[in-house]
Amino acid sequence: MSKDRFKDQFAGALAGAFREQYTDVFESEGDSQIFNAEFIYENLEKPKDPKMGRFAFPVFRYARLLGDKPQDIAPKVAQEAEALLQSKAEGSPLVKAVATGGFINAVVDFESQATQVLEDILVQDSRYADSKVGAGRKYLVEYSSPNIAKPFGVGHLRTTVIGNSLRRIYKKLGYDVVGINFLGDWGTQFGKMIVAYRKWGKDLELDNHAVKGLLELYVRFHAEAENDESLNDEAREAFRSLEQGDTEHRELWERLKLISIEEFQRVYDLLGVEFDVITGESFLNDKMNAVVERLDKVGLTRVSEGALVVDLEDTQLPPLLLKKADGATLYATRDLAGLIHRWETYRFHESLYVVATAQSDHFKQAFKTIAMLEEAENLPEKDRMSGRVKHVDFGWVKFHDQSMSTRRGNIIFLEDVIDKAVSLAREKIVEKNPSLKAIDETAHMIGVGAVIFSQLSVRRLKDVNFDWDEVLSFEGETGPYLQYTHARLCSLVRNYPEVVEPGIKVELLDLEEEQRVIELLADFPIAVADAARVYDPHLIAAYLLRLAGAFNRVYQRKGDNGKIDKIISDDKKLSAARMALVKAVLTVIKEGLYLLGLKAPREM
Ligand code: ARG
Repeated sequence: MSKDRFKDQFAGALAGAFREQYTDVFESEGDSQIFNAEFIYENLEKPKDPKMGRFAFPVFRYARLLGDKPQDIAPKVAQEAEALLQSKAEGSPLVKAVATGGFINAVVDFESQATQVLEDILVQDSRYADSKVGAGRKYLVEYSSPNIAKPFGVGHLRTTVIGNSLRRIYKKLGYDVVGINFLGDWGTQFGKMIVAYRKWGKDLELDNHAVKGLLELYVRFHAEAENDESLNDEAREAFRSLEQGDTEHRELWERLKLISIEEFQRVYDLLGVEFDVITGESFLNDKMNAVVERLDKVGLTRVSEGALVVDLEDTQLPPLLLKKADGATLYATRDLAGLIHRWETYRFHESLYVVATAQSDHFKQAFKTIAMLEEAENLPEKDRMSGRVKHVDFGWVKFHDQSMSTRRGNIIFLEDVIDKAVSLAREKIVEKNPSLKAIDETAHMIGVGAVIFSQLSVRRLKDVNFDWDEVLSFEGETGPYLQYTHARLCSLVRNYPEVVEPGIKVELLDLEEEQRVIELLADFPIAVADAARVYDPHLIAAYLLRLAGAFNRVYQRKGDNGKIDKIISDDKKLSAARMALVKAVLTVIKEGLYLLGLKAPREM
């Protein structure tokens, strides 16, 4: 929970220095954020070149407010801040403020920083890098959101993994997070399902493995409808009667929904994915009229060829379709009602929709409509959700596995992928460590870990190339590699007879490789905050790979005699210092894996 002491000192000094140097602006804009130490603390960046210092505060964004040039602001404020730091410190200050271009950098004394970081990690354990920035703020993360009456395919893997991780990340930052699974449980496809079931599904047993049979019905419907347009008319009619509450249709729909939820839950259990709320499009059925009325009332709707639409001003977007000519509602209408319902229920700080890039226009349309509505209604700023809703989109997943995609039509079942990953992981373990006790449990952790990590191994907006050999490798940039490093750290701790306690002699950790590890440990809170800021767990994944790599360089380092320089040696003091480092790396890797949604095996 604690704040980074150096960062805090530096932010405090900068706040004071800005105030001194720009007293006039401070007096006229007293509440301006730049004079606030909290704000500066949160906006400190990491310099591109680590040699420049530990943190950097960019001043150019404030040049307008301060009425001064960035290259003039930086030295003036840095000098003032330096004076403040000197005056408070006994002896020499641990942080120095240095201006470079449009930045003010903080240069921190290495040894004192190292002492603090290792102490913090050993004392705080998994709470290291926790923060209170989110205290008292609601954060909504919607993810997964598969469609019922269809199998859980790999198409919904990436949203599930990214969202589950974001939920954990925002929790760590102190937000009150609500993870939402918004099932696709309404829409014209249910009309098709009803028709297909009535025609060809009578023999289908609606048990908890029926989803595969339902998929066949669905595929058959589409195939037959190609030649028989009347099927589509029948489906539209069936959906209309479902919307109007026809009991027989309603019962069938409820059954399909139950079967699907059970099937999905099986997959979530395998993955270890959790939600706080499971809801769906159908929940919004009775909430759509209210939105349509609000839009009508302020004159934002228009009838176009019998349909009701909203024209979106100042955008290249097509009009948003509220109601079809036959009165049927649409996906967009439900999302508008959902936006309003979530805002009224939670009054969130931010609300995320983790959904594929293919739906970008849909979300742009919905958000724009909301913004226009709030503007037309002249709502006070505090009552507006605009600017707080965000589409967190992501690239495609390309599965290079022909065998899986051809077996059952065009859909690759996520359960099949997980099963295959676990059995491949099992083969590897049996080969590497046949005496391992909990083989099945470990294989599960690694197989699932490999699948999850594959989704986070590249930036969110980049496509994922899923390749079996790659994702399961114990050496590459993979989940199993991180898990393996974790297991190796655990084994060091097991083999060390003493107890690792705070109070480390950091000056003994003087190797370049060791110092690099310490620097990285100090970066963990930054990696977590950065991942949250750009809504991308990948930043934590990449960070963990750097940390594991840096640690493995310590582990495999050869001494002057050409032999491996062992962590645990006859030198008791040195061993103790190095084991403190081991324990700290172990703690951070474990917590990092947790944030990504991976389990950390102690042996493998
Ligand atoms: N069920 C939709 C699909 O699978 C995704 C829903 C996304 N969320 C939303 N609020 N529209 O394509």
